[in-house]
Amino acid sequence: TFVVTENCIKCKYTDCVEVCPVDCFHEGPNFLVIDPEECIDCTLCEPECPANAIVAEDDLKAEHAHFKPLNAELAKAWPVITERKDAPEGAKDWDGKPDKLKLLER
Ligand code: SF4
Ligand code: F3S
Repeated sequence: TFVVTENCIKCKYTDCVEVCPVDCFHEGPNFLVIDPEECIDCTLCEPECPANAIVAEDDLKAEHAHFKPLNAELAKAWPVITERKDAPEGAKDWDGKPDKLKLLER
C-alpha cells in the first residue's frame, strides 16, 4: 500500500489521481488519501506528486507512521477523486512547510 503523507496538506496538486488504475484516491477539503483496501501497489502515483507526498508504506518514516491509519480512516469518509483539478491558492508556498498536520481539515 502507498500512503499520502503530510506535505500533501494545503498543496493538494491532484496530479496523482489520474494515473491510479483502481481509483483509490479520496478527496478531503485540503488533503488526499489512498484507500489501503484498494491500492494494488502499482507505484504509478508516487513519481507524479510534485510535493513528494506519496510514500510506500514500507518506506514511511517514523514521524509519518500515523499517516497510515489516517489514510485508512479518511478514505472511508471522503469521496473518490479521479480527475485532476487546479491546486489550491498558495499551494507552492505551503510546499515543504513543517507541521501541517494541525491544518488538516476533515
Ligand atoms: Fe493507485 Fe497505484 Fe498509487 Fe496504489 S500505488 S494509489 S494503485 S496509483
Ligand atoms: Fe497531494 Fe501530491 Fe496528490 S500533493 S493531491 S499527493 S499529487
